[in-house]
Amino acid sequence: MHYHIVLLPGDGIGPEVTAAGAQALEKAAQMHGFALHTETALIGGCAYDAAGHPLPPETLALCRTADAVLLGAVGGPQYDTLPAHLRPEAGALLPLRKELGLFANLRPARLFPALAAVSALRPEITAQGLDLLVVRELTGGIYFGQPKARSANGESATDTCTYSRTEIERILHTGFQAAQKRAKRLCSVDKANVLETSRLWRETAVKLAPQYPGVELSHMLVDNCAMQLVRDPRQFDVIVTENMFGDILSDEASMLTGSLGMLPSASLGSHSAAAAGGVFGLYEPVHGSAPDIAGKNAANPLAAILSAAMLLRHSLAQPAAADCVEKAVAQALHDGLRTADIAEAGTKALGTREMTEAVLQRMQAA
Ligand code: IPM
Ligand code: MG
Repeated sequence: MHYHIVLLPGDGIGPEVTAAGAQALEKAAQMHGFALHTETALIGGCAYDAAGHPLPPETLALCRTADAVLLGAVGGPQYDTLPAHLRPEAGALLPLRKELGLFANLRPARLFPALAAVSALRPEITAQGLDLLVVRELTGGIYFGQPKARSANGESATDTCTYSRTEIERILHTGFQAAQKRAKRLCSVDKANVLETSRLWRETAVKLAPQYPGVELSHMLVDNCAMQLVRDPRQFDVIVTENMFGDILSDEASMLTGSLGMLPSASLGSHSAAAAGGVFGLYEPVHGSAPDIAGKNAANPLAAILSAAMLLRHSLAQPAAADCVEKAVAQALHDGLRTADIAEAGTKALGTREMTEAVLQRMQAA
């Protein structure tokens, strides 16, 4: 087997963590008998600097030819004052997701037992572990709805939240199918007491439920969900929700696992992808570009390495290789290895490269 992977390192710590993810992919390929052809392209602020646009057409075209894309992070303070269409986020990351049709964003939040002490939660809440999946709709809602504009006199602004039934159905299918493969509990999160889009969302969820008799569907308002995530996160198996709620809840969920530096994600364009494997996807750590620590060998590479594992599982349909990467990460943590963001006070922290090397060694040993 021979796969074509595009790397989009981006800005800030993006290049450092993407290198780590790429090394894990390469190691997995050697060990599991497949070959990778990797190409690297520009995205984000560095693309704006080099080519005048954060998402150069060549980058998008290259992604379309790939089996999978591994992205680092985009953005930085020097780009924050550019007009929206030239900013790394609104001008590159969001159009990349939209253009590639990647509506299903999977964000698993799993607490590795070795990290219980750095979770933001009390030990009695984390004692039995934590493993939930946020399924976030990624190409609709208030991120993309039109009109989106500042008024002529600059004194008011509008964002529009729109969802079609079709958009809601396909992400709910992803949620139901992910739940089928896990603990069979799906919590659909909305704001149906206030928002019309949420009422359509909830109605659609209720209509689809009979197609998944093995899955227990519940509904929760987003404010309550934010509270329940810190009160009793173990009540959740799969959360399915719209774009902005998913953005916020997935950052919250990450802190339950110890650090935003631990959370991987997969963005897929097919609702059966979560189950089937072998479909195109974009993989990125949930964390941002962290400009304050960029280039200092201080970033946690584990979210990028775990994103590489998701790439192996969902796009390359290489589950044994994915397991190997995930087990090596768990082993490195079990062995007490920590980057600064997950180190307890007074303990030694490894750099990005040293942590990556430790994971690669444990892949070999597995
Ligand atoms: C994320 C990020 C992005 C988002 C930003 C950088 C546009 O926060 O992937 O969660 O809001 O989707
Ligand atoms: Mg976010």
